[in-house]
Amino acid sequence: MRLNGKTCLITGAGGGIGMAMIEAFLAEGAIVVATDLDADQIVRNCEHLQAGSQLIARRLDVTDPSGIAGLAEQLKAEGVEINVLVNNAAAITIGKLLDATVEDLRLVFGVNVEGLFNVTKAFLPGMIARGGGTVLNMASLASVHAMHERFAYSSSKAAIAMMTRSIAVDYVKDGIRANCICPARVHTPFIENYLKKYYPGEEKERFEALSRYQPVGRMIQPSEVAAMAVYLCSDESAMVNGGSFVIDGGVMAGDQPSPEG
Ligand SMILES: NC(=O)c1ccc[n+]([C@@H]2O[C@H](COP(=O)([O-])OP(=O)(O)OC[C@H]3O[C@@H](n4cnc5c(N)ncnc54)[C@H](O)[C@@H]3O)[C@@H](O)[C@H]2O)c1
Repeated sequence: MRLNGKTCLITGAGGGIGMAMIEAFLAEGAIVVATDLDADQIVRNCEHLQAGSQLIARRLDVTDPSGIAGLAEQLKAEGVEINVLVNNAAAITIGKLLDATVEDLRLVFGVNVEGLFNVTKAFLPGMIARGGGTVLNMASLASVHAMHERFAYSSSKAAIAMMTRSIAVDYVKDGIRANCICPARVHTPFIENYLKKYYPGEEKERFEALSRYQPVGRMIQPSEVAAMAVYLCSDESAMVNGGSFVIDGGVMAGDQPSPEG
């Protein structure tokens, strides 16, 4: 199996993409340490996987350095040695610069940027000490392509793409690889939640518009992101380092299909 020998810690694992990654990683032989704000929810959602001791669910708030240090200590004491770290947890706010409040910026940068920093800082030393490992960051198409009304979120995701490259160049000699995935719209609770919050009563129209945004004509499925994650966390991608991998149904390829056909 493609992830035999990998012990993968995933943050924000209770969400749509996180759950798909848990399933795909377990299916490829990994031990998965799945973390989120609510560990019990992960356990409930994963019951059908019958993962046994291959799945360890723990509470982890990526904005809480002492909680992160506590988990790192706990895992060490249990002999669980992380060699793959997936920084997946995120917060989003919608709006242009003039809509954004400083609280929006603090929330989004606190979870997305500082959270990635906190968790990576806690787990990277162990990975280096054991001869290397892989960091996979969930960025976004918004990291590389300005999306309307995503000022705070896009800025945080652009920072993640550069944090990924910085880790890649700084730790390559320590056996660490770092890459990020940049998806366009993925059909997860993330989308449902912000449609409900920001566009009440217009959810259906907005959902259809978000689907049309991808020239392929639909949203990405979480399992399609998880498939790329499996590759980037496996040894098949041993020569892949510092990359930002777009999965966007053709958004970045160029023009949208013309109305004339
Ligand atoms: N869904 C999309 O369209 C899309 C597109 C591009 C990138 N992404 C990125 O993919 C990743 C996963 O997104 P998703 O769609 O599965 O989202 P989701 O909302 O379904 O899941 C996100 C998870 O992060 C957790 N979380 C939030 N704050 C946290 C904190 N402080 N500490 C720990 N966990 C926290 C939430 O509890 C949630 O389970 C995110 O980084 C997101 O930015 C999503």
